[in-house]
Amino acid sequence: MNITIVGTGYVGLVSGTCFAETGISVTCVDVDQKKIDNLNKGIIPIYEPGLTPMVKRNMEKGRLSFSTSLKDSITEADAVFIAVGTPPDEDGSADLQYVLGVAREIGKHAQHYMVVVTKSTVPIGTAKKVKAAVQDELDKRDSDLTFDVASNPEFLKEGAAIDDFLKPDRVVIGTESEKAQKVMKRLYKPFLMNNHPVIFMDIPSAEMTKYAANSMLATKISFMNDIANLCEIVGADVNNVRKGIGSDSRIGNKFIYPGTGYGGSCFPKDVQALVKTSEQEGHPLEILKSVELVNNRQKSVLYKKVMSHFDGDIKGKKFGIWGLSFKPNTDDMREAPALVVIDKLLKEGAEVVAYDPVAMEECERRIGDSVQYAKDQYEALIDADALIVITEWNEFKVPNFRVMEKLLKNKIIFDGRNIYDIEEMKDNEYTYYSIGREVIGVEDKVLAK
Ligand code: UDX
Repeated sequence: MNITIVGTGYVGLVSGTCFAETGISVTCVDVDQKKIDNLNKGIIPIYEPGLTPMVKRNMEKGRLSFSTSLKDSITEADAVFIAVGTPPDEDGSADLQYVLGVAREIGKHAQHYMVVVTKSTVPIGTAKKVKAAVQDELDKRDSDLTFDVASNPEFLKEGAAIDDFLKPDRVVIGTESEKAQKVMKRLYKPFLMNNHPVIFMDIPSAEMTKYAANSMLATKISFMNDIANLCEIVGADVNNVRKGIGSDSRIGNKFIYPGTGYGGSCFPKDVQALVKTSEQEGHPLEILKSVELVNNRQKSVLYKKVMSHFDGDIKGKKFGIWGLSFKPNTDDMREAPALVVIDKLLKEGAEVVAYDPVAMEECERRIGDSVQYAKDQYEALIDADALIVITEWNEFKVPNFRVMEKLLKNKIIFDGRNIYDIEEMKDNEYTYYSIGREVIGVEDKVLAK
């Protein structure tokens, strides 16, 4: 089989490489010549564990190639996957200009039947628009060529994307013809053989599934964050509550970890887009509006604890920050809570020294040298008034508290991910703030309000 993937961003690159891994021939296309030149040299534009060797291996085997020419890449394609960006436009709806631009290109150059698959997260109804765009170009050419559209949403998690692709919980495929279903079945045969559920359905349902899944997960997180804030006020421990509710199999124990709010490229964008769609359709999803509101509020929770501890004055104080990426195992800082915390600290006249195992370059690209960057996690603590943990990288989980207390000016930790044990912090005599749990080492500091 032969496929083309258009867009070498996160989804396109991971999907293309993993499809090549199953033995089929894949061409990844992008308009960015520099990106393609780099990929042809084996230089990968994103950080994803395991991806670089996999790209190189499949290139060497001749199954994976990169090109800027959509026209040349589709001469033998059974399917073309559209995996280009859909950035939110001003009002929060997904901007489809790139998706539809690719559809038009396909219509201009296709010479045989193929399935045009949307893999980007697109609003419900997009496959119809893609179909119309391809058809329009075919009509302009007076071509009677036939094609099909399909929707195959992606559920990859950054940092675990290869595993998620190769061992999916499920694959969702929306089609409207048997012919297209046959092509998609052949493509996903290795997954079917390994008993991963491949669920075929109609196109609108497939498009909706992606939004419903991400919105449900975001809802779980916001719900838990708000419960955590209430736990602080009523004197409950959210860790206990989490275990207590998570052991009910109807609720499940995943995605109920409170923290500093969800970030990344998917949840914020998808929740916003579904809110928008629901409003446009005259059925506003009130629940999701609250999910968004709670999340925005949660990103400031650590900052509020800091301000409350220092009685509203942090001018000239120095804070060490551990973790900048929106979650561990990625350098992605899109919608990262760290950006909100840093911005607020700096505005109050504080000094920030940050450390992240991989995201410091990305942070510098975004906010320049308004913060200092430490060469390791301990350097970020030298003379700091407190440590603020924002991302739960493994290497932060069992630090040397003795070394830390020699470096820090005050033994104070604000932990946005509950990675330390309350009893251990009591024993170590740290002042310790976390999310939805009692404050250690301070009298009468009820936060959250
Ligand atoms: C998500 C979806 O999981 C994936 O299926 C979809 O395709 C894209 O969006 P991703 O954004 O890579 O993937 O990250 P994920 O691991 O899902 O985490 C999202 C955010 O939720 C992170 O900011 C994370 O810190 C936060 N989170 C997650 C919590 O705050 N608590 C949890 O219990 C779980």
